[in-house]
Amino acid sequence: MICRPAAVRALASRANGVVVTRRALIQAATPAFSTLAGRTSLTASVPVSAQPPAFRFLSTAAAAEPAAAPAAASTKQPFVPTPERKYEHFVNVEVTDKGVGIVRFDCANQSVNTISFAVKDEAKKMWAEEIQNNPNVKSVVFTSAKKAGFIAGADIKDIKKLEDKQQLLGIIEDGIDFFKNTLRAKNIPLVCAIDGPALGGGLEWAMWCDYRICTDSPKTKMGLPEVKLGLLPGFGGTQNLPKLVGVQAALDMMLTGKDIRPDKAKKMGLVDLVVAPQSLEKVAIQCAEELANGTLKPKRKSKSTMNKLLEDNQYGRKIIWNQVEKMVNKQTNGNYPAPFAIMQCVEHGLMNPGEEGLRNEREQFAKLAATNESSALINIFEGMTAMKKHSYGDAGHPVKNVAVIGAGLMGAGISQVSAEKGKYTVMLKDKDDAGVGRGMAMITDSWKGKLKKKRMTQYAVNKNTSNVIPLTDDNPIWEKHFSQADVVIEAVFENLDLKKKIVADMERVTPDHCVFATNTSAIPITKIAEGAKRPENIIGMHYFSPVPMMPLLEIIPHAGTSAAATATAFEVGTKQGKTCIVVKDVPGFYVNRCLGPFLVEVSALARDGASLEMLDKSMTKFGMPVGPVTLADEVGVDIASHVASFLSEADLGVRMTGGDISLLQEMVNKKWLGKKTGQGFYTYPKGKGKKKFINDEVKAYAKQFVKEDLKLSEKDIQDRLVSR
Ligand SMILES: NC(=O)c1ccc[n+]([C@@H]2O[C@H](COP(=O)([O-])OP(=O)(O)OC[C@H]3O[C@@H](n4cnc5c(N)ncnc54)[C@H](O)[C@@H]3O)[C@@H](O)[C@H]2O)c1
Repeated sequence: MICRPAAVRALASRANGVVVTRRALIQAATPAFSTLAGRTSLTASVPVSAQPPAFRFLSTAAAAEPAAAPAAASTKQPFVPTPERKYEHFVNVEVTDKGVGIVRFDCANQSVNTISFAVKDEAKKMWAEEIQNNPNVKSVVFTSAKKAGFIAGADIKDIKKLEDKQQLLGIIEDGIDFFKNTLRAKNIPLVCAIDGPALGGGLEWAMWCDYRICTDSPKTKMGLPEVKLGLLPGFGGTQNLPKLVGVQAALDMMLTGKDIRPDKAKKMGLVDLVVAPQSLEKVAIQCAEELANGTLKPKRKSKSTMNKLLEDNQYGRKIIWNQVEKMVNKQTNGNYPAPFAIMQCVEHGLMNPGEEGLRNEREQFAKLAATNESSALINIFEGMTAMKKHSYGDAGHPVKNVAVIGAGLMGAGISQVSAEKGKYTVMLKDKDDAGVGRGMAMITDSWKGKLKKKRMTQYAVNKNTSNVIPLTDDNPIWEKHFSQADVVIEAVFENLDLKKKIVADMERVTPDHCVFATNTSAIPITKIAEGAKRPENIIGMHYFSPVPMMPLLEIIPHAGTSAAATATAFEVGTKQGKTCIVVKDVPGFYVNRCLGPFLVEVSALARDGASLEMLDKSMTKFGMPVGPVTLADEVGVDIASHVASFLSEADLGVRMTGGDISLLQEMVNKKWLGKKTGQGFYTYPKGKGKKKFINDEVKAYAKQFVKEDLKLSEKDIQDRLVSR
């Protein structure tokens, strides 16, 4: 299929959500994906039922629409004030004998606290009624009454609802006015006590306080993730954060949106104190008293000489801007406006501190909120949030023990995430010691790497390692272990007879409730379930390689799979840290159903004269994390070729025509299998820092495929690829 450019442009410009969601789809299957805003956060492949209409319009996976599941009804009840509970978003304010006002956030009917326009309005009312005119209040502690954490962020629905984003200017100004001219104007110390997440608007609230205390709980994290939604911290965050942690650390936090854990937060000056969760409120009250009576003075972190040189004069800062701008350009290809706006706000605020910096910040915020990029990223975020829940009812039997068969690339990865993230006991079985040993080595090497990078403690490494039990066919003890399995995930070779034999073995050995999941790439789940004694327990769980890094998991019930088995697979996948999508048992399931036509168009473009370099460059410029040629090398040319030829014979009709996939097939014969073999479209030289390149032989090979050089522009390539 060759799309006409005008029609294509019309489609591509219909909604940025389409464009970004298509990007996201490729990201989900692309190991090399890494954007400024972070790997998982921008990645979403949302089942058709959860997508906005524009996505559905272009989805090549329409046939993969998931089995209908009832939509969850909204349970939000209108708030009725009572003397015991005067405010919707706060429990009643307490004032201690020594004059500490305790304000506990507690958004009614919500599992987590968020900062919404309504919270802001009610905070003003609460402050006026309880604190402002109360002479007994000498200091205030802000904390949360919720176990789930402090404040999870700003309520994005508020921003979405506003048709005219310019209205945000007045709303933000009102909020800033509250912080600056009401909260701070009482001139009493404000302490923020944080346990669990304090993100986005939550951390911005904390930054308006004089003193911040957080707990050392593993759940406690602080961050400004607005960039991931195409926005910036708009309640003074771009102005307040550099003052606390310095310009470079502030830019790093705001441009990546990453979470900061308690120890690091203390080191960088984001918080003043880290305490155990059980003493948080007591310590916060004591600090508030001492700040009020002058026995405690907040200490700001002093800068190193190097940081002073860089940050405290305009020449040093110029070096920072140049470097950061280069990095942002490299990582975004200029496709995301938010990081640039964040830089502008920080720079402008340093030159024009105070009201002018804040005015500029809210103007930039309102501008970003009106961009297609932001609305598309918000759609993805909402889709991913929706994907944390399922509506397949009760999973039935609780899952404690997960058995994995096949300790190869996929089986080892599945075992790793099951033990590390899912906290399951894992039984990993291969044919023999060599097989299971290879798998165990992959897992423990990965954990050792995390330990070295301080991403995991020695205790966690030991605990996780002891939770993976290596088993082989050679030792019949495996049957005893497997009799305890609640879920079996099969990841042996891609062979129907072998997979069916394993189903039969498992039905003999495992308990009746045990769910059997297959990680097949392409075999219909219906075929694997054929002849099974308990077909209702059989389901597909299709992971992507490398499993510990790839966030997407396709869950594929066949027609006879029970809702309980689907719910079990969804819950296990979610605990493993995956974004689960439930899709139909159709050729290519979901991702490969999109990837197949994409690869066919790549071959059609090569036939029409697009060079390999141009194919990659056009698509990275368009906003894809990697181009299609790199993608094929990363996935494996053999796998890409298999997907393309398999889907050519499937039910995708015209979408799989118009190209020449022998481009990939002949590479398999030449053993140019991609990155894994050091030679694919690119050559991957060994040695640190050596860059991949396309050698003359591959260039000549690709040239043979050119039928007619249509002198395609970057735009032609982009249009044809995204709209195939
Ligand atoms: N590699 C990928 O990118 C990828 C992605 C998604 C799905 N898959 C699917 O996952 C499955 C496994 O793929 P892989 O890449 O991990 O393969 P692999 O060759 O790395 O591993 C397969 C493992 O299964 C073991 N095995 C074979 N027969 C066995 C048996 N009877 N009992 C126990 N162990 C046995 C082998 O010894 C080997 O260790 C395949 O169905 C594949 O299509 C692969």
